[in-house]
Amino acid sequence: MCGRRSSHVLETAMVRHVGLCHCRASLADYVGGFHKGKVDQMRSVVFEKYGVPEQVLKVGERDKPVPGEGQALVRMLLSPIHNHDLMTVAGLYGVKPPLPWVGGTEAVGVVEALGEGVSNLVVGQRVAGGASQTWAEYYLVEAARVVPVPDGVSDETACQLVSMPLSSKMIIAYLGIEPGQWMVQNAGNGAVGKLVARFAAEQGIHVVSLVRRDETVAELAALGVNNVVSTANEGWQEQVKALTGGADIVRGLDSLGGDGPEQLFEVMEDGSELVNFGAMTGRPLRITPGSLLFRQMKVRGFWGMKPNLPAADIGRMLGELVTLAAKGELDLPVDGVFDLEQVAEAVKASDEPGRKGKVVLRG
Ligand SMILES: NC(=O)c1ccc[n+]([C@@H]2O[C@H](COP(=O)([O-])OP(=O)(O)OC[C@H]3O[C@@H](n4cnc5c(N)ncnc54)[C@H](OP(=O)(O)O)[C@@H]3O)[C@@H](O)[C@H]2O)c1
Repeated sequence: MCGRRSSHVLETAMVRHVGLCHCRASLADYVGGFHKGKVDQMRSVVFEKYGVPEQVLKVGERDKPVPGEGQALVRMLLSPIHNHDLMTVAGLYGVKPPLPWVGGTEAVGVVEALGEGVSNLVVGQRVAGGASQTWAEYYLVEAARVVPVPDGVSDETACQLVSMPLSSKMIIAYLGIEPGQWMVQNAGNGAVGKLVARFAAEQGIHVVSLVRRDETVAELAALGVNNVVSTANEGWQEQVKALTGGADIVRGLDSLGGDGPEQLFEVMEDGSELVNFGAMTGRPLRITPGSLLFRQMKVRGFWGMKPNLPAADIGRMLGELVTLAAKGELDLPVDGVFDLEQVAEAVKASDEPGRKGKVVLRG
């Protein structure tokens, strides 16, 4: 699809269906994952118990689902391994699907068959967005929730068009920070970190991005991400101060847990607010009483599944993302592509420090 009609369909689909990422999937999505009336077999990456992803994820033959009313069956092209996917497999995420379960929460694929009452999609069309059980040759989507992919957008970008980009836009809104103010984030070279830096800058918000390795500073500069400081160096706090010119840093965005919050507090203004967004260290947040008592730092959490933002705003953000992708202005890199059978290898690659993008599975 291309041209004005496709963009209209696209925008309509997006505005009507805000919940395209993992974060918006309902319990009904999970329960309805395996549809009745299966007719065929397909390969999928299944876990029968919660545990270490490399150990519990297995490729198996399962019934190919049949689309029910309002659903479409999609042939998977690429599906990323997101951090929340691995947390789900480990049983550590905020939602625990019933087992056995097929992993994956976002993909790009080609519409293979339509269920009853679906009029917004056609067979053969490329679609992207959040879904459940996407690490399989085929997966089901709610037709009303998918995003038709504009022709010029690569599969690599399309397969990760929604979850991290939309989360990045939502978290900036949630932070409640004004143009001209400063914020600091860690995990600055992750998918979210890079997008937060870009989208915030587009809104006139100044961002300092912390990374854990020196070489990452130049890598991000080459991508146009500035104000990046490596915490590997002693005196990194002084570098931050030099970048801000001593201006107050009024928000912190922590994706690490562990010592991440206290590290951010070191450069944040007294009484300012930190939002925890993730736990890449896998450790609980270590926050000293002195930070809360003497410095009056505030701490909140954000989860895309309960975004606490107006639905219309989220729909608008989604529209902005697809428009950017259609214009060739949103390029989301992939670090490695693996077959379903290579899932253990793919998970291992996903855990490697310094990835340049998401590791993705091929259908
Ligand atoms: N709350 C929500 O709704 C929501 C939504 C989306 C994402 N998230 C969370 O946001 C976080 C980032 O997601 P993403 O997709 O941007 O991640 P990503 O692309 O996989 O990148 C991971 C980032 O974390 C860094 N990192 C990993 N382990 C680390 C450690 N032990 N110490 C310091 N840095 C470490 C990596 O640095 P190196 O490059 O140096 O390895 C990289 O910058 C994840 O925790 C994810 O679950 C939350």
